[in-house]
Amino acid sequence: MSVTDEILVSPEVLECPYDFYRRVRDEAPVHRTPMGFFVVSRYEDVLSVVRDTERFSSDMRNSFVSGPPSDELRAIEAEGYGRVSTLLTADPPVHTQFRALVNKAFLPKRVAQLEDSIRTIADDLVDAWIDRGRVELVTEFAVGLPLTVIADALGVDRADMPRFKQWSDDSVAPLSGLLTPEQQLACARSRVEMQHYMAERCREREAAPRDDLLSDLVHARFDGGERAGERLEMTELLSVIEQLLVAGNETTTKMIAAGMLLLLEHPEQMAAVQADHSLIPNLVEEALRLESPVQMLPRVAKVDVEVGGVAIEAGSVLMMMYGCANRDDAKYPDAASFDHARANARTNLAFGQGPHFCPGAALARSEGRIAFETLLGRAADWAIDDSVEQPVRRELSMTLRGLSGLHLTFVPNPSATAANASEDHA
Ligand code: HEM
Repeated sequence: MSVTDEILVSPEVLECPYDFYRRVRDEAPVHRTPMGFFVVSRYEDVLSVVRDTERFSSDMRNSFVSGPPSDELRAIEAEGYGRVSTLLTADPPVHTQFRALVNKAFLPKRVAQLEDSIRTIADDLVDAWIDRGRVELVTEFAVGLPLTVIADALGVDRADMPRFKQWSDDSVAPLSGLLTPEQQLACARSRVEMQHYMAERCREREAAPRDDLLSDLVHARFDGGERAGERLEMTELLSVIEQLLVAGNETTTKMIAAGMLLLLEHPEQMAAVQADHSLIPNLVEEALRLESPVQMLPRVAKVDVEVGGVAIEAGSVLMMMYGCANRDDAKYPDAASFDHARANARTNLAFGQGPHFCPGAALARSEGRIAFETLLGRAADWAIDDSVEQPVRRELSMTLRGLSGLHLTFVPNPSATAANASEDHA
């Protein structure tokens, strides 16, 4: 069967899509899939499309990959604050205005200020299981770290964290492309609940600002353009907040778990990184490249175009295959192999590129670095826990790739534990 006839969402392909990706890049780098959209698979082609907002739009509202929303879904959404395009699905000049506001919230200085609290959150999570000698790393560490960081930044009460986590999960679940209509409705209900909760928090910050990201957003004013000096409306605020929540949680969780599994599969590289923590930032880049949490995102052709020599009609949906482009041998020699010291690992497209380049990249990189410094610093002899029936479990999704379970054993590092404990009591 030709690669152009294959379905991207079959469970076999989703479990490990990389052989399929290689065939796509080699045999039909840009082609229309049986699902109706085009795939763009090579590094340079993806880059050229995402940088070109003149000819390619991020506004998917009229181009439903999985069919238009049902009346029932619309009725549920009507109970909330609706949808408005601000970031991911907006195009310039609207996107430019919202993006300027969000960029301010994630300035490198601001991210650097978060370092200490990220480290404390990471250490607290490890404290809960370090004496046990075993851990399920996804639920007991990789989920909690980004979730707590963003919840704190948005000023969400720690007591509300379980609800926060559920909303985050339900917001990304539809991206899998695999939900039943009932599941889609449940996710929509959850989204409405989150909107009401966050609207209430916004009103609190309106009345009494605090030193948090949420207060910044509530009181931010557009810098230029038609709306210069105006504040964001509630629907716009909620759209931005939802994207900060959704875009930053699952992705960072997946980056941490994937990086750990790669190290476990390459013990000599684990030993090198464990001995020299200055190698960690590049390890994070290489993990992002090889196991990109966001495997693909769409664009729509605004006009008739040609990509990689293939003619594409205006209105067509094009899937930017970030995870596939990151394994393009033309860009990364021996691209399928893991090399924590790869010289150009940081050029990976895991955070996208162009105007929609991830505004949370600096925060995510910082979380990744601190996660590995903490895990590798506080324990050694990490290994997959073979006493568990299925120690490595993968989530099947077309858009997001990552683990849902990673059972590990380890030996606590007594000096690191002691140092930590003495700090706690200082
Ligand atoms: C490893 C972690 C992360 C990965 C792999 C990731 C990946 C991405 C990618 C690929 C895009 C580009 C979308 C496009 O091309 O249309 C993006 C956009 C975005 N990301 Fe991230 N992200 C991560 C972490 C974060 C964090 C921590 C935050 C915030 C707290 C965040 C917030 C956003 C937002 C708001 C956008 C939309 C930007 C826009 O459209 O202008 N992300 N992310």
